[in-house]
Amino acid sequence: MMVFLCAVDIDSGQTTRKDPVTSTMKGKEMPPSSLEKSALIIGASRGLGYALAQEYLNRGWHVVGTVRGLNKTKLHALMDTSDGRLEIETVDITVPEQITGLHERLTSRRFDLLFINAGVGNQPDGTVGEVSTEEFVRVMITNALSPMRVIETLQDLVPSTGTIAVMSSG
Ligand SMILES: NC(=O)c1ccc[n+]([C@@H]2O[C@H](COP(=O)([O-])OP(=O)(O)OC[C@H]3O[C@@H](n4cnc5c(N)ncnc54)[C@H](OP(=O)(O)O)[C@@H]3O)[C@@H](O)[C@H]2O)c1
Repeated sequence: MMVFLCAVDIDSGQTTRKDPVTSTMKGKEMPPSSLEKSALIIGASRGLGYALAQEYLNRGWHVVGTVRGLNKTKLHALMDTSDGRLEIETVDITVPEQITGLHERLTSRRFDLLFINAGVGNQPDGTVGEVSTEEFVRVMITNALSPMRVIETLQDLVPSTGTIAVMSSG
């Protein structure tokens, strides 16, 4: 399994390896609310995306986390205890119209961090020799093509001082 974690330097367009959690806040005090930092985390209903949302809230950030569909998730329970610092949006990153819709809803907002965490594993688990072509294509569309589409569509929500990060696998 390969894991891709990178941050895009918007000024130079260069991709660098950096830890967006620790690199942005290391050694600094929590920002006062007037200087509150903000993160948009794509795929935060559970797992690592949920944990990232929780961590950024703990660090005093304002977080917009996304889920798919209308079902209540762990993120909704977290929102209830977040003092208004967590908002929930919806997007399925494999549906381009939903990415565009998310951009339209957030168009006046700016985020210090866009973290694209949404991803899937092949089902059932298996080697390259065992996985069906259909399942391989499903994983690649979700984990490779769709995060790039999200970056292309949402990148203008992140100022030049911000960070765009992707976590995925294939
Ligand atoms: N955990 C690991 O050991 C590991 C290792 C290598 C890489 N990764 C990568 O790290 C990321 C998170 O992993 P995880 O273990 O936390 O996964 P997870 O528990 O399965 O959670 C995946 C998250 O992505 C969302 N998601 C899936 N497909 C989506 C889509 N089409 N549109 C929008 N959201 C979608 C899920 O939403 P729903 O609740 O709606 O399904 C969920 O919030 C993934 O990209 C994964 O490939 C994880």
